[in-house]
Amino acid sequence: MRVLFTGGAGKAGKHVVAYLAAAGHRVLNVDKQRLNHPGVMDLVADITDAGQMYSVMRGYAGFDEMEAGTGQQVFDAVVHFAAIPALHLMADNETYRVNVMGTYNVIEAAAKMGIKKIIIASSETTYGVCFSDGQTDPAYLPLDEAYPINPMDSYGMSKKVNEVTAEAFQRRFGIDIYALRIGNVMEPHEYAEKFAGFAKDPGQRRRITFSYIDARDLGQIVDLCLKKDGLGFQVFNAVNDTNSVPQPNAELLAQFFAKVPLKRPVGPDESLLSNQKIREVLGFAEQHNWRKYV
Ligand SMILES: NC(=O)c1ccc[n+]([C@@H]2O[C@H](COP(=O)([O-])OP(=O)(O)OC[C@H]3O[C@@H](n4cnc5c(N)ncnc54)[C@H](O)[C@@H]3O)[C@@H](O)[C@H]2O)c1
Repeated sequence: MRVLFTGGAGKAGKHVVAYLAAAGHRVLNVDKQRLNHPGVMDLVADITDAGQMYSVMRGYAGFDEMEAGTGQQVFDAVVHFAAIPALHLMADNETYRVNVMGTYNVIEAAAKMGIKKIIIASSETTYGVCFSDGQTDPAYLPLDEAYPINPMDSYGMSKKVNEVTAEAFQRRFGIDIYALRIGNVMEPHEYAEKFAGFAKDPGQRRRITFSYIDARDLGQIVDLCLKKDGLGFQVFNAVNDTNSVPQPNAELLAQFFAKVPLKRPVGPDESLLSNQKIREVLGFAEQHNWRKYV
């Protein structure tokens, strides 16, 4: 597929773009920064500028595409990752503005230019535990896509609003828009750097309910979303199969979530941010569990 990818130069994007390119997709990276990945053209553009987003939706993905003389084509799909990716990086209202208006611009331009598949980066912070004031207990565990998400911070709120935007455009245009509630992203080099520390002090992973997503496995999830058509608007948790710490759930739940009811039984190491839906609906099979590298 010809895929327009926003934010491909970022932490998660660079691994996902590499995965998609290796899987045979033709990828154009639209970002404020350059990625410089072989075979992927970088187009510098700002998602908060609606005109630029309309402009990029129909175009070449490389100089070679000009040879055929068939004109500028719309892309088959848009994967939208560009964002301010956390709280405390910018003023709260600027994080909200960039993420909410940027995502609105990308979805509106894609839908109105005739693109039939849009995948957006939402976040596990929408569950309201990660960036909450104080230690917030979720209403239940494991966290699944049916949970009534209720963040109290500007970043999590922006991602919740983006899901609302996505659902509304899906209804109006009848296209497929899938929102990925991405967990804490881990690049390959981070296993050696961080996971021993997580094991010694699992409490530092409480706010993300101990979950993580390998950046390459996130590539697989995005690829599976590109291949799966006809689901309308969907939300998927995007995390690996197990928690990011070696302590079993019985111990973690007793120590950190003693008052939280279980919605269903969980396996001893099963991620408390459930990835059951991506496994069952998309056929996700993780390749990079942290235990292979630590
Ligand atoms: N990293 C995580 O653990 C994590 C967890 C959950 C969700 N997410 C989401 O995944 C996505 C990618 O996150 P990341 O960690 O790779 O972030 P990142 O900051 O490393 O990358 C974001 C990219 O977006 C680009 N960008 C920012 N503002 C832009 C603008 N106005 N116009 C064009 N490009 C712009 C940046 O240049 C950067 O390359 C984000 O939507 C983020 O909210 C990340």
